[in-house]
Amino acid sequence: MEKNINIVKGTHDIYGDDMANYRSLYECFSNLAERYGFEEILTPTIEHTSLFARSVGEGSDIVSKEMYTFMDKSDRSITLRPELTAGVLRAVVTNKMTAQRELPLRLYYLGQCFRYERPQAGRYREFHQFGVEAVGVRFITEDLEVISLAKKCLELVGLDKVKIKINYLGGEESRAAYRNALKDFFKDHIENMCEDCKHRYEVNPLRILDCKVPDDRPIIEGAPKILNYLSAEDKEKFDFMVEALKTLHYDVEVDQTLVRGLDYYTGVVFELHSAFEEAPDFGALGGGGHYAKLLSELGGPELEGSGFSIGMERVISLLAALNRRVDPKETVDVFAIGMTEEAIDQNFFLAEALRSMGVRVQMNHEVKSMKSLMKLANKLESKLLVILGEDELQNKTYTLKDLTTGEQKTLEYVDFFNEVFTRLVKIREQQNQVSDDEEDNNEDGGVA
Ligand code: HAM
Repeated sequence: MEKNINIVKGTHDIYGDDMANYRSLYECFSNLAERYGFEEILTPTIEHTSLFARSVGEGSDIVSKEMYTFMDKSDRSITLRPELTAGVLRAVVTNKMTAQRELPLRLYYLGQCFRYERPQAGRYREFHQFGVEAVGVRFITEDLEVISLAKKCLELVGLDKVKIKINYLGGEESRAAYRNALKDFFKDHIENMCEDCKHRYEVNPLRILDCKVPDDRPIIEGAPKILNYLSAEDKEKFDFMVEALKTLHYDVEVDQTLVRGLDYYTGVVFELHSAFEEAPDFGALGGGGHYAKLLSELGGPELEGSGFSIGMERVISLLAALNRRVDPKETVDVFAIGMTEEAIDQNFFLAEALRSMGVRVQMNHEVKSMKSLMKLANKLESKLLVILGEDELQNKTYTLKDLTTGEQKTLEYVDFFNEVFTRLVKIREQQNQVSDDEEDNNEDGGVA
């Protein structure tokens, strides 16, 4: 027998419940991003190697050790992207988007990334990121929107216990002052630190703060703190952001050792970490920050940007560990039952009209028993039921049943749409009220 071909180390197949969660996550995240005004972009998986050297930075582990780089048949150095921010900003420059569109550009994406890292739980060599980039931002509220969107994406899929770790890396001046302070501090310690730190000391001493080697940690704890090197203006901005996030009742922790592994950040940086004690830690679920120079370094105009990326695999692993499934789409607002073929034909036009008004509708296409259709409507968690049978057809009416209260009414066509909308608004309000009450109960230590 021929030997099987193994899967490439660090890669994995997504199928079954994980695949269902992957699709649902994408649907939830993209719907939410669109509500914030982001539109989707797809960029190539391969880019010129110089793009990442110039953006993510030659001093970063990603560029110096982890890239899948090869020469193509025309001797060009090509890299499988290790992240998407650089490619998205390259696309903004290539397509002169900033000249053609309203600023800030708001772009979201989902795609594969490749990093030659040591595989472990939640760490792959090929993985997927969902993320957003806002290009042309000028105000801290725009950074806050980005951070809040990242947090809400996770909340929307049921991951409500998420800590935001946040730090501020500052503009060029504060960064330079801090770099000098770190060099000064580590000068007497570096000989006894790991090989990676020795390299970081030469190329980017800030990255030493990221070191996870246990013997190096006590030394790092004693290093100067970045917030003491910020300009008054940067300090004020950062304090405002932290306060604003706390006002939103987010679990926020200022972590002065958070420097992130990419060189383009110049302002606020953040990471989202699971705070579910019952599940293992798969590493940061997402991270991002503000970059002032990235676009201009890639040949574009002097515009600042802000963004984040969420690791799809890490979210999927966490959901699996919590035994949860995300199902954003199976509920419908209205299920339209047609009892005869003529009624089904008419329901088709009714369903199309309701859908074009934003109502989620499903209907039967085949004559079936009322009992089996009711069962289906319940399974889909439909809120309203429209029934069209012989009597309704003859009297030019619809029967509308509110499945949340059991109330039933026969309505003339003129009153029908109004009734559907009024009821849906009311149901939604009640549902929001229930989830607010549940939250209050949870806060009071009650059982939801
Ligand atoms: P990053 O922190 O390198 O940031 O990656 C973002 C997320 O991707 C991580 O928090 C993690 O969930 C996931 N991730 C990273 N490496 C792996 C891996 N080897 N296996 C599985 N998941 C992984 C960036 O990539 C930036 N581009 C984020 C950003 C966007 N900053 C501004 N805009």
